[in-house]
Amino acid sequence: MHSIMPIFGTRPEAIKMAPIVSALQESPLFRCIVTVTGQHREMLDQVNELFGIVPDHDLNILQQGQSLSAIMTRTIDGLEKLFAGTRPDAVVVQGDTTTSTAAAIAAFYHGIPVIHVEAGLRSGDLLSPFPEEANRKVTSQITRLHLAPTSTSRENLEREGISPEDIVVTGNTVIDALLTTVDKQLPFTDPRLEELDASGRRILLVTTHRRENQGESMRNVGRALARIADAEPDLVIVLPVHKNPVVREAVLPALEGKANVLVTEPLAYGEFTRLLSRAHIVLTDSGGVQEEAPSLGKPVLVMRENTERPEALEAGTVKLIGTDEERIVAEVSRLLHDSAHFSAMANAVNPYGDGKAAARTVAAIEELLGVGYRTAEFTGA
Ligand code: UD1
Ligand code: UDP
Repeated sequence: MHSIMPIFGTRPEAIKMAPIVSALQESPLFRCIVTVTGQHREMLDQVNELFGIVPDHDLNILQQGQSLSAIMTRTIDGLEKLFAGTRPDAVVVQGDTTTSTAAAIAAFYHGIPVIHVEAGLRSGDLLSPFPEEANRKVTSQITRLHLAPTSTSRENLEREGISPEDIVVTGNTVIDALLTTVDKQLPFTDPRLEELDASGRRILLVTTHRRENQGESMRNVGRALARIADAEPDLVIVLPVHKNPVVREAVLPALEGKANVLVTEPLAYGEFTRLLSRAHIVLTDSGGVQEEAPSLGKPVLVMRENTERPEALEAGTVKLIGTDEERIVAEVSRLLHDSAHFSAMANAVNPYGDGKAAARTVAAIEELLGVGYRTAEFTGA
């Protein structure tokens, strides 16, 4: 039996790896050894708990205010020690965090094949998102099997000289995770959210955390939200705020005392997807939320200058608006008051997956290890 080691460390990796872990655990062909770096702690454990994942190994690397170098070196060092005693036949890494690139490097140094989930996303700007664009390019160079979510990501990889046979288009496993979670309508832990849900009031759901937005851009976001809250007393702004103190210090001061702004701790995935399905508009700089919200037909305003996820942009459900205060206020206001504009954006589109990405992933791994065959690629839902 082949041993496969998924390695992940942050909230979005955990959400997107969960369907793969589950499919590997169900397969009679593989032994699944789950390793977490602990780049995130509470936000990682929250996801593992929901999906019933109990890690076999935990490097526990988180340090408050951690630097990119610390995440990189502590991950490589921890995996070096782990691989000395537990050598998997392949590792699976997800996305573009520093955990994923460090894990790919550690495996590569040990001659262990790297399988990269969510391969081939490119913004075309090495500095945005930072350091994710660089992370994903580095990982692509040392990956044996590239699991691209869409045909666009396949084309990006081929353009960079990756052999077409080493790429499989699977769809994004975030849609697998979303579809198995959102319909459960799990209860909100915070009673204010249950009350809000029952009230029928319109919700603007906001998330922000990107490193390149920290500082002045994020203060702009806080100020813009405060103005929207004042101008739209019937609207409720919900901000499940990231654990990063740098984010909190930038965005929260402007929101103090606003009755229609509800700031919460990071929500468990089941609660977040329920809120997402209840939201009227989504304002975010998150990668994963850009993929999930279109699937639920929610207009998404993305607080970034570019995106490595052009598919929903092309479908018209996502709009790039940057982090200028005036622009954020104007774009939210337009969606609230221009019903034709709102309807044009509120399309349920599924360019990112059909809920079968984990099955395609496991089939591609079977082929890589000579025990099965890949299945038909994802061509759009
Ligand atoms: C990381 C990823 C980013 C991903 C994001 C998802 C890198 C370089 N960045 O960014 O690609 O989009 O996760 O959220 O890999 N913290 C806690 N507890 C937690 C999580 C975070 O206390 O559970 C605090 C710590 O003080 C930590 C800080 O947040 O130092 C930042 O965490 P870090 O993982 O370094 O960066 P993120 O901005 O979360
Ligand atoms: N998410 C969550 N709880 C929250 C906010 C977000 O479970 O309070 C989920 C969201 O549904 C998405 C993922 O976290 O799947 C996105 O994570 P994040 O924005 O931290 O990272 P990114 O996707 O930008 O890398």
